[in-house]
Amino acid sequence: MRYNWINAEEFSFNSFLLLDRWIIEMICRDYREWTEYEQSLGAALAYNPAVAWYFVQRSPESKAYVEQIIAAAAKGLSAEEVRRAEVFVLQAMETSVVYAYPEIMNRNCNYIYDWDKKHLLDLADFRDALVLDVGSGTGRLAFAAAEQARRVYASEPTDRLREYIRDKIKRENVSNVKVLDGTADSLPYEDNTFDIVMSGHVVGDHYDLELAELTRVVKNGGVIIDCIGDDDHKRKPDDELLRRGFEVFYHVSKSGGDIYTYRKKITK
Ligand SMILES: C[S@@+](CC[C@H](N)C(=O)[O-])C[C@H]1O[C@@H](n2cnc3c(N)ncnc32)[C@H](O)[C@@H]1O
Repeated sequence: MRYNWINAEEFSFNSFLLLDRWIIEMICRDYREWTEYEQSLGAALAYNPAVAWYFVQRSPESKAYVEQIIAAAAKGLSAEEVRRAEVFVLQAMETSVVYAYPEIMNRNCNYIYDWDKKHLLDLADFRDALVLDVGSGTGRLAFAAAEQARRVYASEPTDRLREYIRDKIKRENVSNVKVLDGTADSLPYEDNTFDIVMSGHVVGDHYDLELAELTRVVKNGGVIIDCIGDDDHKRKPDDELLRRGFEVFYHVSKSGGDIYTYRKKITK
């Protein structure tokens, strides 16, 4: 699916030098059935040795694959052909490339710029709460919650996005948002820590694992919230969350998208 969050023509292939190990690993692992993508990635890496070197150093688990697709890459490509391969890969991976450019993410991702924080603040009582935001991105949920909460921990596995949130905290003199690394299936917090654990556009690859971890760090009587932003997608409610006991709330976004948000009170 193409989102057009970036126009890849405007981006250097060196953008990949800004990305973390987990993203390099994903882009070398998850699209192996897609022939045009694999050939383009092989060609782009063959003609960008510094990026190929970075892929292997940063993600040793991708080494054999990187070497294999570089070896299979067409020889003697023109500069135009190389650029076409680079642009194909950049556009195909736009949802990850954009993590290297948080300002562009805020500006171009409708789920961020079209969102109204009331859709989060209506879901729970944030006043004086200790809150965790899992997969914070540019901090859409974290900064909204921080207006009422005692403290918000923004947990984010992408370095460029952690930096962006830290810079914003400094720039706007926000005293109650703290930034940490961490993934939904491995959160760096003690059991029973938070009143509210929230996320948006994060849970869903491994529901059982992720929700077990979110549940572990929430206090008895606390809530888990899933609050996506306001995009233009027509969608159905998430049956996996409903099956696991989440309440669902629905609204239509300004751009006509079906937006479902979820809440579950946790009793331990
Ligand atoms: C689509 S963005 C959403 C950002 C933010 N939650 C929002 O809704 O505005 C997904 C975010 O989740 C992070 N992420 C990806 N995989 C993750 C995982 N397994 N655990 C936690 N965060 C993850 C990404 O780095 C990215 O910041």
